[in-house]
Amino acid sequence: MHEPTAEDQSEPRRPVVWVTGGGSGMGRASALTAASRGWRVALSGRRPDRLRAVAREVEGSGGEALTLPGDVRRIEDVTESAAAIERRWGRLDGLVLAAGANSPRRTWADQDLAELEDIVGTNLVSVARVVQLALPQLRRSAGVVVVVSSYAGWRFSPGAGVAYSASKTALASLCQSLNAQEAASGVRACHLCPGDVDTDFLAQRPEVPGVEARSVMLTADDIARAVQFVLDAPAHVRVDELVISPVSQH
Ligand SMILES: NC(=O)c1ccc[n+]([C@@H]2O[C@H](COP(=O)([O-])OP(=O)(O)OC[C@H]3O[C@@H](n4cnc5c(N)ncnc54)[C@H](OP(=O)(O)O)[C@@H]3O)[C@@H](O)[C@H]2O)c1
Repeated sequence: MHEPTAEDQSEPRRPVVWVTGGGSGMGRASALTAASRGWRVALSGRRPDRLRAVAREVEGSGGEALTLPGDVRRIEDVTESAAAIERRWGRLDGLVLAAGANSPRRTWADQDLAELEDIVGTNLVSVARVVQLALPQLRRSAGVVVVVSSYAGWRFSPGAGVAYSASKTALASLCQSLNAQEAASGVRACHLCPGDVDTDFLAQRPEVPGVEARSVMLTADDIARAVQFVLDAPAHVRVDELVISPVSQH
């Protein structure tokens, strides 16, 4: 006997997107843009206050949001987040993976190995973890995965850091394997590679950019627009890779 879910009773069937790192920066902007386009948004990240603030913004504009506090490095948290989305909406159509980490100590001369493991664990292994646990839901809807990688994952960027560059570069391969192996289910992945974006993330640079440098960077909204373009693509369209950089970046 089929138990009615919240989804059965809601109409019309609005798509659902799960955004990791949804409490700030590009994740937040992508969630707000998706919500403004009628998507229901699940927001995950470690800071519940940041998630709730974004949820309030979504709800204030008439949208629906679900906050999922948790750490993408913890399988229990990711499992519970996927289950909570299933309980609440019974579907998942999009996944935006914006959670990421770096460190000011990023060269062979000064890096810390524990930190290196943490960066790779967050940027690469945790992306694989979230995708793996969301795949059963994504297959049912022929969903879209947007992996927020980096310009450093597309072209070697000397200042980006050993762990950061290696982890982001590997995301290209992760997206390619998803696209090769999940084509039959209709699941599509995009390796999204932003250049410099004015967000809190810049605080992790050895030299934190000032107001003038930030003024010529991309904004989180620039990236959100690109994310939405990928989410909105018709089911037979796959955007394999997108590189977006500020004109000022060499
Ligand atoms: N800003 C740039 O110039 C730039 C350029 C290219 C690519 N990127 C990438 O863009 C993505 C988004 O970064 P952003 O620039 O928008 O900066 P941001 O605002 O600092 O976003 C990073 C997000 O990741 C979340 N996060 C980090 N570790 C996590 C963990 N273990 N579990 C769950 N969530 C975690 C953070 O939330 P909590 O701390 O609350 O967990 C935060 O919301 C990152 O993957 C970054 O590598 C940034």
